[in-house]
Amino acid sequence: MYTYDDIAFRVIERDDLNALRLLHNDLSIWGNLLNIEFIDEKDQENWWENLYRKKNDKRYVICQKDTPNKIIGRLRIQNINWQHHNCEVGLDIISEFRGKGYGYKSYKMLLEFLFDHYNMNMLYLKVADFNPKAKKLYEKVGFKETGKLPDFFYRKGKYWDYIIMSITKFEYQNLK
Ligand SMILES: CC(C)(COP(=O)(O)OP(=O)(O)OC[C@H]1O[C@@H](n2cnc3c(N)ncnc32)[C@H](O)[C@@H]1OP(=O)(O)O)[C@@H](O)C(=O)NCCC(=O)NCCS
Repeated sequence: MYTYDDIAFRVIERDDLNALRLLHNDLSIWGNLLNIEFIDEKDQENWWENLYRKKNDKRYVICQKDTPNKIIGRLRIQNINWQHHNCEVGLDIISEFRGKGYGYKSYKMLLEFLFDHYNMNMLYLKVADFNPKAKKLYEKVGFKETGKLPDFFYRKGKYWDYIIMSITKFEYQNLK
């Protein structure tokens, strides 16, 4: 378990699968995902069992340090490239815990882990341009808009741009 202030992230255990399935199927979460398939218990179980095979794709749960069994969100570190030391990141906070600073603190934790310990040199993420709340959070953490995939994302009856945001280790070190 990696801790930061009063929060932490840890590996996903079988007992977490139900909470993760409910989180995934929540409209406010999957509405922001490219893949809008709902998942059932079997899908969730298969996904979890396949996780260990994916060496460049890590998934964790976010929790409070003192109550690790209570999930407050999920965290992904994807497309890890060990030659160039970069990866894609993303996280979602369960609706009842939003607006309390957990998203911000979780990103601070993630940046510290990936830059100071995991030896990443650049992190990037993608956010749909119908999600300004999330974009504002990423800017607050230090990510900058560095590109976009125009009309990439179909939702709510139209195509939206998929905004690419990134932060380098140099930029991260100069935030401090
Ligand atoms: C986006 C998300 C991760 C933010 O997490 P959170 O815990 O609610 O955010 P925080 O409480 O840490 O707020 C951090 C910043 O986010 C932005 N923010 C959060 N809630 C906001 C709101 N309702 N309106 C506008 N900005 C908001 C603000 O910049 C805020 O900083 P501020 O409080 O100084 O203004 C969370 O709301 C979430 O999981 N949403 C649903 C799924 C999603 O959108 N995932 C991201 C897909 S790219």
